[in-house]
Amino acid sequence: MIMDCLKIKNGNLYIDDCDTTVLAEKYGTPLYVFSETSIRNAMRSYKNSIDKYYGGNGNVLYASKAFSCKEMYRIAKDEGIFVDCVSMGEIYTAISADFDAYHIFFHGNNKTEEELKYALKNGVGRIVIDNFDELNSVDEISKELGIKAKVLVRITPGIDAHTHDYIKTGRVDSKFGFAITTGDAVKAIKETLKKENVALMGIHCHIGSQIFETEPFMDAATIMLKFIAEITKKFSIEIKELNLGGGFGIRYVKEDDPLEYPEFMKKVSVAVKETAKYLQIPTPVIYIEPGRSIVGPAGLTLYTVGNVKQIENVRNYVSVDGGMSDNPRYALYDADYTFVIANKADKPQNYLATIAGKCCESGDLLAENVEIAKPKKGDILAVLATGAYNYSMASNYNRIPRPAVVMVKDNTDRLIVKRESYEDIILNDL
Ligand code: LLP
Repeated sequence: MIMDCLKIKNGNLYIDDCDTTVLAEKYGTPLYVFSETSIRNAMRSYKNSIDKYYGGNGNVLYASKAFSCKEMYRIAKDEGIFVDCVSMGEIYTAISADFDAYHIFFHGNNKTEEELKYALKNGVGRIVIDNFDELNSVDEISKELGIKAKVLVRITPGIDAHTHDYIKTGRVDSKFGFAITTGDAVKAIKETLKKENVALMGIHCHIGSQIFETEPFMDAATIMLKFIAEITKKFSIEIKELNLGGGFGIRYVKEDDPLEYPEFMKKVSVAVKETAKYLQIPTPVIYIEPGRSIVGPAGLTLYTVGNVKQIENVRNYVSVDGGMSDNPRYALYDADYTFVIANKADKPQNYLATIAGKCCESGDLLAENVEIAKPKKGDILAVLATGAYNYSMASNYNRIPRPAVVMVKDNTDRLIVKRESYEDIILNDL
């Protein structure tokens, strides 16, 4: 199953017991639809596995860049997990939803002074220090505010995880963090310890996204623990927290074979505990930061099929009323998706289609040569597992308003983000 929350009833596609064709009719298309049950289950499964295999000595942070809106922070708060934010916009959204700032970790390679001030003033839990300039800024701002900022230092462990080039982050040549092999990581710890207005709480790494193998995560954890052992000895300090980042892959198409997250957490927990024991360092508090695997398989996008153009011996273009403006991932990463005509979900899928968006750009495609039921203008096309990095990466290209977002749960639906209007589109134009 691409998404656990889907069912077919009377030929229609259902999500969390809601008929997607009825949702399309009620809210219009394009429409993002999320299953609240799936989101909560994913958060719980991570949290429970830390409780079960790591004695609760840690927490899950939802990487909110995957899908950020007020309702997501409310759900994260309700589930007792923390969040990772990467901009003032995300922090602002979280705080507006009454999310406790102390449970926010602030990431990013170029946090502006304005963003750092805002985060520190509002009592964000951890600043993840990415580079030397930022360390100096955090120290200065904290001094001005009369506080001591709690920080993690972002370390680049030198892992080359097997994923798309743009979403690899753990190797030495990365815009993020301090590399161990160049000596910068040790230097960063040394400099951090010298700062009077900064408290070093721990270290962080993130090796990439949409990763299917366990090994890169295990290797990263081992490298990070060895690094902790090295600096513990060198500087006579105790490193209390280890944040292992996110990156757990999800199933977009049936060939994808993601990790079983609890099973994975079990392996990582055992490895961290054993390695810490072997290296004679205290077992650290661990954090993990999944984004995609929490919301990705919980969401789908509904479009209305528009024009169908068959070019003989070439291909069949099936155009929809959205495209790269609500899902740029095919154009950016050649990302694969699974497509179902929601009102023909039980019909044979033997029509070879190239799904085209409505933007004025040839590259505005959602897929090439995928098999769907024979389409007709007015059909509802569902694209599965679009919960992560779709709404959050949407744009107003061609002045197309961003779609609405609906949350469904046990046969009920509610709007959580309104559809942008044309007035919204010109709101900031003078
Ligand atoms: N922590 C850090 C520091 C990160 O940079 C990221 C993702 C995560 C956690 C969450 O990773 P996840 O569990 O979602 O894989 N736009 C791309 C993905 C970019 C990921 C950026 N960082 C995409 O659409 O595939």
